[in-house]
Amino acid sequence: MSPTPLQIAAQRLALAGKVAVLTGAGISAESGVPTFRGPGGLWENHRPEDLATPQAFARDPELVWRWYNWRRRLIAGCAPNPAHLALAALEQRVGDFTLLTQNVDGLHRLAGSRNLLEVHGNLWMVRCTVCGALYEERGLGLPARPACRQCGGLLRPHVVWFGESLDSAILDRAWRAAAGCQAMLVVGTSAVVQPAAGLASVAKQAGAFVIEVNLEPTPNSREVDVSLMGKAGEILPQLVD
Ligand code: OAD
Repeated sequence: MSPTPLQIAAQRLALAGKVAVLTGAGISAESGVPTFRGPGGLWENHRPEDLATPQAFARDPELVWRWYNWRRRLIAGCAPNPAHLALAALEQRVGDFTLLTQNVDGLHRLAGSRNLLEVHGNLWMVRCTVCGALYEERGLGLPARPACRQCGGLLRPHVVWFGESLDSAILDRAWRAAAGCQAMLVVGTSAVVQPAAGLASVAKQAGAFVIEVNLEPTPNSREVDVSLMGKAGEILPQLVD
């Protein structure tokens, strides 16, 4: 009997000494964190230009903070799911492992992942718009206009908004991980937001075996070596075991 796509993917993953993983909102969906696109997605009822751009924050920081505080409270009640845990277990077994995530929810770190690049930032970090101070802020009852503990300036979430550049050092490391891996897993991303969406192509063109895990086909699906359709929380534990 010929091996199933899942078995082929698991074998290639087990043989790879260098693994890169790219995750998106879909990996946290089974933890109860809403995705951005698709049914029930955040962008169904909210316009990104009202909430996730520097212009929106300049216009109405209290509105933007209300949305982020709502998301912080929601995510504070969520725990890593079997997909996050499978990636943390995989990291223990692979010599060279890099996890690139577009998610800002912090669930990968909570699951135990360590070599992690949060390319869109982290919702639990805040940055001062005046002095640039950057620190963790886990409070769930932040004031309408949270103030910097160092200079009193207005804080913003330390996340990347539409129209902003990614941190060039992080992007550089992400690119190198994608270009240098032997196998790449792409999990739960609609693959429409650049530059993160392009990382699967970088890996593929550099000769890596690329495996996609998603509920539905994406722009990456035709290019990858194996596309596994289903829930990340069910497929990743099988792939890694
Ligand atoms: P999206 O919301 O665009 O896509 C989520 C993907 O996950 C979709 O392709 C779903 O089919 C898939 N999915 C949903 N549930 C799943 C499950 N249980 N198992 C596997 N797959 C599942 O999220 P991202 O691709 O992460 O950026 O979005 C990219 C960026 O766009 C985000 O980082 C955010 C957003 O606007 C910024 O805020 C800058």
